[in-house]
This record gives sequence, C-alpha cells and structure tokens, in this order.
Amino acid sequence: MTSPDTEYASLNEFYRVAWDQLGRGVADAKHPARTPTLATISANGFPTQRTVVLRAADRLASQVEIHTDSLTPKVEELRENNKAALHVWIRKSMLQLRLGVCFDVLTGLEVADRWNAVPPTSRISYGTQPVPGKAITGPFDYEKPAEQARFAVLKGHVQQIEVLYLGTKHQRALYKRIDDWSGQWISP
Ligand SMILES: Cc1cc2nc3c(=O)[nH]c(=O)nc-3n(C[C@H](O)[C@H](O)[C@H](O)COP(=O)(O)O)c2cc1C
Repeated sequence: MTSPDTEYASLNEFYRVAWDQLGRGVADAKHPARTPTLATISANGFPTQRTVVLRAADRLASQVEIHTDSLTPKVEELRENNKAALHVWIRKSMLQLRLGVCFDVLTGLEVADRWNAVPPTSRISYGTQPVPGKAITGPFDYEKPAEQARFAVLKGHVQQIEVLYLGTKHQRALYKRIDDWSGQWISP
C-alpha cells in the first residue's frame, strides 16, 4: 500500500509505477487493475463501457490483452473503430490510470496458444447461444457451449497513458507513444 505522503520524483518512476500496477492486475485476481473498464464507441456514436479482465500487460511492447467472445458487440465496435479506452482506479495506491488503446481482434490459429491455456471451466465464456446481447424469452433461455472458434484475443497497442495520483500532494502526468513515452507533468 502506498502512503499518502509518497511523492513521485520523476516522470520515469511514475510511468513505471503505472505499468507495475497493470502487471499486478494480470497476476493477482484480487487487484483492482485485474478488471478495468473498457470503453468503445458504439454504432450509434455513444461511448459504451463494460468490465473486462486484463490478461496481459507488457510495458516494453506497450501492449495489453483481453479475452472475449468474437460475436459480442464490443468486437463489432472495435472492428468499426479500433480506438478504445481502459480505465482503472486503484484505491490502495490512490492511482487512476486512463489508457488510450488501439485494438486488433485476433482469432483462430493465431490465438490457439491462449485458448489452450484457458481452464476448461472458463471456456464456456466463449460460445453462448443465442449470441450475447440478443433478446431471449426467459432469463435462462440460453446455452453456454465452449466454442474455440468464438474465442478472440483483443490485442491492445497502447497509445497513451494518463496517470493521476491522489496522495497528499496530487500528481498527474500524460505519456504518449508518439513522444516515446517521455511524459509530461500536467496540472492535476
Ligand atoms: C468482473 C467482470 C469481468 C468480466 N470480464 C470479461 C472479459 O474478460 N471479457 C469479456 O468479453 N467480458 C467480460 N465481462 C462481461 C462484460 O462486462 C460484458 O457484459 C460482456 O462482455 C458483453 O459486452 P458487450 O455487449 O459490450 O460486448 C466481465 C464482466 C464482469 C462483471
């Protein structure tokens, strides 16, 4: 846990802290960064959000990964507009992370390794009938077979990260891929 009196002396350190938190989310099912909010732009032009599980976070490659069902609306939205956002608030560390991310949708043989690593009990998240979001007559009028063909990996190429720290002295910085992640302090 971070003390409220923590001060981040350099942009580099603040940036590393942000990725460290994302990495903890991947490793620890109880960490808040495990379940960021993913925002996409829906067909009617409004932003739409949902909780997802963060499956990978690679600072050196500036990439993140999410697993999903390829027939969910979010995938259609990302195929139409691959610019999305991830948000997480880590209360114990007093950090908010806001990521701007361009997603590729990967399916089939490209992601067979990831599918093989999904526990059998979790595979039923990929293949729901009728397709997720469709109207059903009663609350349980659906089936959840495991369908490898429906498994998709959303590979996110992080474009920018905004970090806000709400310690005693607030700190905020914006990092952009186009600036080689050098970062800029901004007013909190
Ligand atoms: C804690 C939690 C974790 C979730 N993780 C995922 C996930 O990793 N992938 C996913 O597609 N949906 C996940 N969901 C379900 C989504 O929030 C959402 O309901 C579903 O994917 C349909 O989204 P869409 O209609 O916007 O495509 C999760 C929901 C919760 C509450």
